[in-house]
Amino acid sequence: MGRPTGRVQGGPPPVHLYEGVPDDREEFWRGLRKVYGDVAPVYLEPGVPAWLLLSYEVNRQVMVDNHTYRCDRRYWHDLEHGIIPADSGVRAINEKRQSVLYVDGEEHQFLSTGLHEAFSALDQQRVLAQIQQVAEELVDDFCARGHADLIGEYARLLPLNVLGRLLGLGQAEVGELAVSMDKLWSGGSESPQGAAELKVLLTQLARNRRASPGDDLPSHLIAHGQSDTQVCDQLTLIIAGTNDLVTNTIGAALRRLLMDTWLASNHAGSQMLISETVNYVMLHSTPMEILVGRFPTRDVRLGHYSIQAGDCLVLGFSAANIDLLDRTPHAQTAFTRAHLTFGTGPHRCPRHGRDLGQAMAETALSTITSRLPDLRLAEPPEQHRWVPHVNVRALVDLPVRFTPIHPRSGPPRLEQMHSQRRDYREITSREPEPAPATTAWWRRLLPQQKE
Ligand code: HEM
Repeated sequence: MGRPTGRVQGGPPPVHLYEGVPDDREEFWRGLRKVYGDVAPVYLEPGVPAWLLLSYEVNRQVMVDNHTYRCDRRYWHDLEHGIIPADSGVRAINEKRQSVLYVDGEEHQFLSTGLHEAFSALDQQRVLAQIQQVAEELVDDFCARGHADLIGEYARLLPLNVLGRLLGLGQAEVGELAVSMDKLWSGGSESPQGAAELKVLLTQLARNRRASPGDDLPSHLIAHGQSDTQVCDQLTLIIAGTNDLVTNTIGAALRRLLMDTWLASNHAGSQMLISETVNYVMLHSTPMEILVGRFPTRDVRLGHYSIQAGDCLVLGFSAANIDLLDRTPHAQTAFTRAHLTFGTGPHRCPRHGRDLGQAMAETALSTITSRLPDLRLAEPPEQHRWVPHVNVRALVDLPVRFTPIHPRSGPPRLEQMHSQRRDYREITSREPEPAPATTAWWRRLLPQQKE
């Protein structure tokens, strides 16, 4: 019997997280907190036990105390001692990597500084212009049709195309990366293959940029002293953050905007409403619901459980946010930015990641609503389908209708990469300072709202 479950004598049984979760996530997380309290014993996959953190306070406490709770996977007893088998999806995702999210202390500081400097070296005006251009081109691709699936044709393609530009890659190459990333995060039998493919693709990218640098992220990481392995592992994390999480945010925010008639009729005149809608979704439809994790360096007591050094703690972002909503009067929490969606403590999502994610989401919303002013849902919201996996809050699709308009000019320029990727419906499992970004440079530079 695994270590965490060994301690649960007489209590409610461990939750099998890999078996999927119902659509009503708020009730699901609330229900777990009611039964288990602040912490629940879980299985990430058969034979891989862990502890899921369910309250705001315990999540926060674990995230800020990097001395007791490490990110470095070498502290994970079952991973380090080969108890989690070589062909496990959980192992493929959590194998030791030289990226900020997998190390602590001085190594973390070095890698963080490298990332920060690489992002700062990018021409920020150009990145924002690229986001806007990608959004416009994607709308051009379907605007004459009068209907579209805003997940497959917009929310999934926008971050991917922006990513291509950040990495200095063509669309076919980014499509290849996305396919491998999908395999890795599937958490299933394809995960090890996805990890191996990413390693080959990204290490080759690092070598190419070392030989012939450009104005792109890999070149700037190299210029700031990162090795090929570090570039490869850091980019793996950035692709994961940019790809799925931003897609989920855009999808849920578009749905929210179109569900709310008041928001939908007023959004065009107000950038603030767009920002608020994105924040609302961060809080209520948290794009990453859970994440492995942290590894205690000593035995600790959390919730009703005694937890051993080397056990695996799973951060519960959604459960923490719902706990926050439940504990605070409604008027104060409806639009609060004190959520844990971007984490907190030394490993919180860095400012460049938050700003880039928010800039992509806000530009996606403002562009499509100004180009297609009578955009409306093609199905009642109750019929919308969510990916059943516990790790993400992701819409399967989002069919919409609108009055057809002419594309701005010329033929579509963006390759439709979704044809190369697996559909969310085929995916059975996947796994990556609560403060407003008031001074964010991306936000300050956001294009003015069009009339
Ligand atoms: C809506 C989009 C996003 C969400 C919800 C999100 C959420 C998070 C969360 C919760 C963490 C903390 C994980 C932990 O404590 O273990 C994190 C870390 C991180 N995120 Fe994001 N993220 C998003 C977008 C991005 C983007 C676009 C990038 C990069 C361009 C990015 C880069 C990172 C990095 C590098 C870390 C690790 C920081 C460290 O360990 O020091 N994220 N993100």
